[in-house]
Amino acid sequence: MDISEKYWVLETANTAYTFGLNQAGYLVHCYWGKKLSDLSHYPSPAESLGWASFNGPTQVLQEEYPAYGGMCFHEPCLKITFPDGVRDVVLKFDSARQVADELVICLRDGYYPLRVELHYRTHPAYDLIERWAEVFNKGDQAFTLERAFSTQWQLPPDAQYHLTHLTGRWNDEFQIVREPLTSGTKVLESRRITSSHHHNPWFRLDDGRASETQGPVWFGGLAWSGNWKLAAEVTNFGTTRLSLGINDWDFAWRLNGGESFVTPPALAGFSDEGYGAASRKLHDFIREQVLPHGPISHKVLYNSWEATFFDVDLESQSRLAEIAAGLGVELFVMDDGWFNGRKNDAAGLGDWWPDPHKFPHGLQPLIRHVNNLGMEFGLWIEPEMVNPDSQLYRAHPDWILHFPTRPPSLGRNQCILNLARLDVQEYLLETIDRLLNENNIAFIKWDMNRNVSEPGWPDAPADPRELWVRYVQGLYRVWGELRQRHPNVIWQSCSGGGGRTDLGILRLADQVWVSDNTHPIDRLSIQAGFSLAYPANIMEAWVTDADRGKLPLAFRFHVSMCGSLGIGGDLLEWSEQERSEATDWIARYKSVRDVIQLGDLFRLAPGVIQYLGKDQKRGVVFAFQTGQTPVDAAVKIQLQGLVPDWNYEIEGFAGKHPGSLWMSRGFDGQLGQNQSMLCEISVSEA
Ligand code: GLA
Repeated sequence: MDISEKYWVLETANTAYTFGLNQAGYLVHCYWGKKLSDLSHYPSPAESLGWASFNGPTQVLQEEYPAYGGMCFHEPCLKITFPDGVRDVVLKFDSARQVADELVICLRDGYYPLRVELHYRTHPAYDLIERWAEVFNKGDQAFTLERAFSTQWQLPPDAQYHLTHLTGRWNDEFQIVREPLTSGTKVLESRRITSSHHHNPWFRLDDGRASETQGPVWFGGLAWSGNWKLAAEVTNFGTTRLSLGINDWDFAWRLNGGESFVTPPALAGFSDEGYGAASRKLHDFIREQVLPHGPISHKVLYNSWEATFFDVDLESQSRLAEIAAGLGVELFVMDDGWFNGRKNDAAGLGDWWPDPHKFPHGLQPLIRHVNNLGMEFGLWIEPEMVNPDSQLYRAHPDWILHFPTRPPSLGRNQCILNLARLDVQEYLLETIDRLLNENNIAFIKWDMNRNVSEPGWPDAPADPRELWVRYVQGLYRVWGELRQRHPNVIWQSCSGGGGRTDLGILRLADQVWVSDNTHPIDRLSIQAGFSLAYPANIMEAWVTDADRGKLPLAFRFHVSMCGSLGIGGDLLEWSEQERSEATDWIARYKSVRDVIQLGDLFRLAPGVIQYLGKDQKRGVVFAFQTGQTPVDAAVKIQLQGLVPDWNYEIEGFAGKHPGSLWMSRGFDGQLGQNQSMLCEISVSEA
């Protein structure tokens, strides 16, 4: 970084990102790509007088953080109404400072007491840059923020980009879409109060030259678990820019004098080694820098949901636990149904203590039994929700999100508690803290099973539209505080599957329940999409009874072994033969899980996935054939990431060959329809 000349160069191991002040005083983006050998090679900030009488300079320039003001018609990052009603922001450079790996650029408005600090933090080893902004009101009268994005990423000009994103819906998350960006704006967003199943706050851009193994790729995401917005805009001046931040839809924030508003961080990176490398950089960063417990691998768990649904009690769970322990399961998780009044999905949410009919002596007898079987115990909760049929709702009907003149819409018979309220936060802290203090609980699955409606906050102390942000801040506070009080608990984020998967929640959650869809073939595409952004150790994947009898048990295991393996079928129904095969697969998984969960992931071809340990000595390849016609087709497998002159052996294929040969010539896997294979890679001479 060089802040002496009003030109800043942010360098990572392989990339550079530069910007500077132009002659007219605009803060202009200059370069984002491969690191150049000499600082003097980076381009200078562009100048512009605008384009005819219809466009001001800011319409043409690639500003780092454009505000809504002047003759600027593209997407701005900042929009403010001042106390006198003026809605025009003019930001000028004020100063810059550098603190360790963080650069802060301070901008101010020439007339109003507005100050904006742009924060840039580099993560050199991962080729990533993190950006966020802090908006200050230095006066004494409140401003209204109407938009405060985290970033606008400027792409190299005069190229045509494709945007790749992850889209879907409940039961069908993380579907990959790659589409050309053409003149105008493509918007992806959530208005659902969570990051949502529908679009994931992650993106990837390429200019047509990239593949899985080579070519330039720009990618990133937003660390926010509420309403968010991505606007990818192609202007008529040859520029492509991608804005990302808290959604401004129905958003407002009263910024009182002396206060500031901090946006969530946005993360982005560049790779000239294709899509695979882009994913691996994110995987490493998430495991090493985001996840609360760092890069750890997870235990094989059993989850009771699909076996017993709401019919949980000491007996039903004990029987499942005994079989699960025999298979080699290490963590037994009791899902929904255990708490006060929970007969079905119409009652109980909010009352987080054991149901006295199902568990007359509390949870301890079950937990003791599970622990005596050699397993840890985990539990499902859905803290943000309340059923009208619950003690909590009867005591505090005003705690839900609602407008007093509208009946609240129910989703799965439940309402959303207003986590922006301090009293709601305190209630959750107290009840869940008690649950964790009174019971030996090693794992919590934190669910959220509906999206928002009637986003009202009748007693709001501020602008009620602050709800969207204050809800998420409340969630982060409760979850963060519980984490601190119970540092050894492993937490899983679930929102009817993968509806809340983002870089924000991953600071709190160690894992994600990726989808309620556990059909192995559907799961392959869901997992492939997930892998573009997120690492395998957080990808919880159960073998259930979906397609039992239709697909081989080996296939079903192989799919789930691609992430953090779990079992979710009704084990009482499994035959001796199935149990014995499952026992073998679980043992096999344990022997390679460090490579799968913590190694490097390579997508070799559709349905062919390789994991390689960080020491490049051990690996695993999974291949799946799902074709409709029952023909035996050879799957060509060319490995990646091996050390070219080390000799490796591939399980099931004769010979010890140098890595270079396994990578260039590869080998053929013979797979019929609905068949799969797993083969281990091991080094024979390093
Ligand atoms: C959601 C989750 C499921 C299960 C049920 C319980 O749908 O995604 O895994 O926990 O809730 O009600």
